[in-house]
Amino acid sequence: MNRPTDPHQMTQASSTIGTHAGYMPGFGNDFETEALPGALPQGMNSPQRCNYGLYGEQLSGTAFTANPPERTWCYRIRPSVKHSHRYEKVDLPLWKSAPCVDPDVISLGQYRWDAVPHSDEGLTWLSGMRTMTTAGDVNTQVGMASHIYLITDSMVDEYFFSADSELLVVPQEGRLRFATELGIIDLEPKEIAILPRGLVYRVEVLDGPARGFVCENYGQKFELPGRGPIGANCMANPRDFKAPVAAFEDREVPSTVTVKWCGQFHKTQIDQSPLDVVAWHGNYAPYKYDLRTYCPVGAILFDHPDPSIFTVLTAPSGQPGTANIDFVLFRERWMVAEDTFRPPWYHKNIMSELMGNIYGQYDAKPQGFVPGGMSLHNMMLPHGPDREAFDKASNANLGPDKLDNTMSFMFETRFPQHLTPFAANEAPLQDDYIDCWTSLEKKFDGTAGKK
Ligand SMILES: [Fe+2]
Repeated sequence: MNRPTDPHQMTQASSTIGTHAGYMPGFGNDFETEALPGALPQGMNSPQRCNYGLYGEQLSGTAFTANPPERTWCYRIRPSVKHSHRYEKVDLPLWKSAPCVDPDVISLGQYRWDAVPHSDEGLTWLSGMRTMTTAGDVNTQVGMASHIYLITDSMVDEYFFSADSELLVVPQEGRLRFATELGIIDLEPKEIAILPRGLVYRVEVLDGPARGFVCENYGQKFELPGRGPIGANCMANPRDFKAPVAAFEDREVPSTVTVKWCGQFHKTQIDQSPLDVVAWHGNYAPYKYDLRTYCPVGAILFDHPDPSIFTVLTAPSGQPGTANIDFVLFRERWMVAEDTFRPPWYHKNIMSELMGNIYGQYDAKPQGFVPGGMSLHNMMLPHGPDREAFDKASNANLGPDKLDNTMSFMFETRFPQHLTPFAANEAPLQDDYIDCWTSLEKKFDGTAGKK
């Protein structure tokens, strides 16, 4: 078996028949995978001595007693205690955690940003992360943060894990490689990746510069929403989620591991790559999902369902039906409803809604909500179609209409989202966004009739 010498190469097992190369299908499955034959113990977790001289170690993403527990058994070249020495604090001033309430920033309002431009500075996954909003409290493991990443450079002999959060990554430009303890995920626009809390990884740029969005989930993990009366199919189907096969590095070079812990960053110096898991089994693993496989369900006669009909993943809070975070996708689809105002209607919502545009044009805002851009409609603030969208939807000939070339998403949370100073002062905020509703006119004049 070849041992990799290039820092950007890891040894990967060949794929199993019926799966994409390097990935295993299914959502939350109890996977098993080994990069060397016989490295994975069978029938037990903790033999007296592991094959190849590996160390057995459990990574738990839930309490042992959670139902169901989420954990993965790793068989690695060194136990993780060898990848964690003394820590020193590091400063990443643009990566914020909740609570982050700046008295000089007004979060009450409807906001929209153009795409944050790339800078001339060389930026990695760590230095290129810019927090836009935070919600809840990282210390009590509730809420979330939204970030934009701008990346030009790969991490080299540099690794990261977040003890605070699970990260949902939504690329908008460029391709990234997540070389993780449990295998490799290559990611491009129209795909998403989930990186579980505690998982160590390195991020490389395959095609840059790269820009995208991150939802940092402080709370309970993302899961598939219940489909209710929709039944067993459509929306996001479990087989379209892909976990990586085992891959490892046996590389002894000075390396840095940066840890996000209770909103602060610390680093530790080690003598080798920590990506040394040769085999693993369990249900706590990173995965990716192709948004093009999302099967939208919607109106086929009249009225627009609530946007929850487009939920891809949901992270529950303690209150049933009230998510810590919903990840919602607005993608290409047919519009066929009769005598219906087809775009999202005007509304106010206890949930706060942060949207991002991956590509194309969003139906409720034909102009201004650009690819790479974001908008925020915070708790109990009214929003809806702009004048152009309203006029068009009110007067359209309602034949079947394909909404094409469009992919936007929403990070929706039960907690109000607070803008960071970066979002309020440095990101390209559109000062005139609120004016998109100004020209909506009073049509009521006391006389009956549709107007
Ligand atoms: Fe909304």
